[in-house]
Amino acid sequence: MKIDVNTLNSWDKSYSWHPFTQMQEYLDHKPLHITHGKGCWLYDTEGKRYLDGNASNWTNVHGHSDPELNEALIQQLGSLQQSSYKDLSHPAASQLCHELISIAPEGLNRCFFTDNGASSVEAALKISFQYWQLTGNPQKKLIIGMEGGYHGDTFGAMSAGNSLSFHQRFSEWFLPAHHFMAPQHDDKSKSLCDLDRLLKTYGDQTAILFLEPSVQGPRGIHLQPQGFLQAVAERCKAYNVHLALDEIFVGLGRLGHMLVSTAEGVTPDFLCLSKTLTGGYLPLATTLTTQKIYDAFLGNFNEGKTFLHGHTFAANPLAAAVSIKNIEKLKQRIADGTLQSTCHYFGKSVEFYFGKHPFVKSIRQRGLACAIELYPGSTSTLQNFKSNERIAHHFSLYLRNKEILLRGVGNTLSIVPPLCISDQEIDFLCKQTAAAILEYMHELVISRPAIPVSIAV
Ligand SMILES: Cc1ncc(COP(=O)(O)O)c(C=O)c1O
Repeated sequence: MKIDVNTLNSWDKSYSWHPFTQMQEYLDHKPLHITHGKGCWLYDTEGKRYLDGNASNWTNVHGHSDPELNEALIQQLGSLQQSSYKDLSHPAASQLCHELISIAPEGLNRCFFTDNGASSVEAALKISFQYWQLTGNPQKKLIIGMEGGYHGDTFGAMSAGNSLSFHQRFSEWFLPAHHFMAPQHDDKSKSLCDLDRLLKTYGDQTAILFLEPSVQGPRGIHLQPQGFLQAVAERCKAYNVHLALDEIFVGLGRLGHMLVSTAEGVTPDFLCLSKTLTGGYLPLATTLTTQKIYDAFLGNFNEGKTFLHGHTFAANPLAAAVSIKNIEKLKQRIADGTLQSTCHYFGKSVEFYFGKHPFVKSIRQRGLACAIELYPGSTSTLQNFKSNERIAHHFSLYLRNKEILLRGVGNTLSIVPPLCISDQEIDFLCKQTAAAILEYMHELVISRPAIPVSIAV
């Protein structure tokens, strides 16, 4: 039964509650129902197209409705759509474990499945806490995280993170955690000194340190300097603290290689993956860990060592099947140099279109991830937009009229396209966005004369 768009809009407005969304504001606008997708494009109920510059929450790899991923899903549908993973297994999960271990850094050889990023972080936390209890170190209970970190919205993940604009309200319920300074541009020394200070004071009580290696995505694509990950890893080893790498954003192709940890030769104690794990098809996450940690949980059931934790849809067969095909295709995209050349072209285009843009204060870009800081322009008397003006969010709504979907938070516009984006689509994305920023700022000038009007396009 096809339901007309007005009915859909009214049901959406009457009954839905969207994540990270001020619903009062949402209700002021006409809802945008996405009905289908093909490649990097999404289409609405009126057939209007949008370039998916946000890769549908940073998940999309080979495009929407990819024939090979569709086929993998259809094949799996023909045999098994769901079965418990408690005390049971199924072929797709076992094959996916094998695939994941083959791409993971040497020494990670156990996969614990969940179904979203935050849950994979919770699993790492709980396995770590239980490991220290089982191995005679029950005092190791603290968490260390980095300034600006984001690991998801469950309580353990919020505690490991430091995303106060989102989570401050809940901070009185957080687990005990300390956070060290993030590195600034090319300078890692202050950050590492701060970490040393924390480890000297709390190392013997600390269970686990969480890091988003190379790039903090949700913070607004904040980059870490070369060698930072190795330096953090060495310190964790020296203080007998588990290192958990959250590659939920950066892993599986986003930065041009399969995994940051493998590329940088670091084996963590835990590695969390989700987002691109199923190519943007179905919810799935995994927490990889070492044999040493796994072995500590082995024993007679009555010894109380079992990890009593899990999720109903863990290792769902459909998600596992599509993930296997996604990884196979991603390996190919990396091996033949396509992904590297897309990243290279993206970097050059971002620089070309935004590098000297009059309303762009700075750019942070690595791989297929980029953040653009909007500001009122060098000739304006205003230094910056106030972050509660949410200029980037309002601009992202404006950009929908230019056939582009992006996400904006505060003054920061994030461009995180599907990994399969073509050079022509990158040109379209950057050129349209750059021109739209000019237009949008020009319209703002009319209502707020502090911003300069004369702009060369
Ligand atoms: C680095 C990172 N960690 C964890 C998460 C949480 O993942 P999920 O939204 O699937 O819980 C996200 C989501 O944006 C993320 O970017």
